[in-house]
Amino acid sequence: MSTIATDNFDQWIRTEFRQINTDLEDIYYQQDDRSAVIGVGNTLKNQLVEQGEHHVEALLTEGDTHQPFDTAFNTLGNLGLFMAALRRHELTNPDNETESPFNRCSALCLRIAASLGVAPRFVSPHLSANNYAINGIQKAFTNLQDETVFHDYNLYSILYFKRAAEALMHIPALGVSASATALMLKETKYALEQVAYYNKTLYDQLDVQRFFYSVRPYFKSHRVGKINFRGANAGDFAGINQIDLLLGLCRGDDLFYGNILAEKMQYMRPEDQRDVQRTLRITPLLDKFVEAIEHYSDRPWFQENCRLFLEVCEAHGRTAIQHQNMLVDKFIKKPAKELDTRHLKQITASGPPLDELMGQLTHLRDLRIAAPRDDIETAHGPLERLRAALAIQTS
Ligand code: HEM
Repeated sequence: MSTIATDNFDQWIRTEFRQINTDLEDIYYQQDDRSAVIGVGNTLKNQLVEQGEHHVEALLTEGDTHQPFDTAFNTLGNLGLFMAALRRHELTNPDNETESPFNRCSALCLRIAASLGVAPRFVSPHLSANNYAINGIQKAFTNLQDETVFHDYNLYSILYFKRAAEALMHIPALGVSASATALMLKETKYALEQVAYYNKTLYDQLDVQRFFYSVRPYFKSHRVGKINFRGANAGDFAGINQIDLLLGLCRGDDLFYGNILAEKMQYMRPEDQRDVQRTLRITPLLDKFVEAIEHYSDRPWFQENCRLFLEVCEAHGRTAIQHQNMLVDKFIKKPAKELDTRHLKQITASGPPLDELMGQLTHLRDLRIAAPRDDIETAHGPLERLRAALAIQTS
């Protein structure tokens, strides 16, 4: 159901676009100052703009507005990859402009995005769970091995988070006392252990310098039309929030977490938006187990299912610790210390200064690990009550 212009554009994104970006990355990377991008590689940059804009014109001329959702979403992703590359090569910078200079491309992104109900840029599903492989190769900005490593392990973690969320979502209809709930909790725990395994593999295999200087810069915020949209990050899918909310480690009516959800909505696919909405209407499992303590804490089902529930919470917490203390620390925080302050402002995908972003991520981690904190409310107290209810029976 795709058209000649959409196919040609997709083909370009998978070939010449990647090659031009790769060649530019190699030039930047060989410089003493690897962050110096402005005025470097101008011939290649001109090629990128000319070829990309040629495809944009063909798409506008064709003007096909009747494409199926997935075809249109794919084209939006391709336009978004093009615009993110323009941003990466400093051919546009939201801090210096009030409007994107790429107005034809912006208009097309805005039209397609409004018709789909998503942000008018590439979002992480375009490079992860909805990144269709042709002959074994998925889309990417460059041909660099480290970019493939980054996308592959992000995707594996995302897929297992989704699997964990799916298993947990069976439980509200079964109730916390059902024997099948134990099966689903075991399934969730297994999936979260797989997330941890792939996070660790990413941590071990990704090259810090290549990631920091040649991959991460494609994930900056940029303008589409007048509005500045934040960069994609691996978290733009519902599964992780479904786990947070269903377990009861994070709450929809917590101002901090509510802000995160509201901001994130348009960066997710519509089915993911609906999954988050559905989860927000479910009573968290934590509340159900706490409620059960009074009458059922000596029952075998409580002992079994509550123990598994606590193990699932711990497994989820471990992935949050890995994200913050391993991935963000090794690949963002430490290399950022070496960076000239001129470039520092631009390094986070979401836009806020690094310290502020670190504060937010720490807050999230502490909710997920139910840390005992005086300044914010976490699930620490209720989880301790559950642990005590198990201990009484085993002592
Ligand atoms: C090199 C590896 C990684 C680094 C350096 C990294 C860094 C970051 C940073 C800095 C943010 C904050 C927003 C931003 O500026 O982009 C973020 C958000 C996020 N990342 Fe990662 N990340 C990595 C891998 C992963 C992986 C494998 C996952 C698993 C799915 C993941 C899940 C998330 C989630 C869910 C968020 C949104 C905030 C949250 O709910 O925790 N990230 N990441």
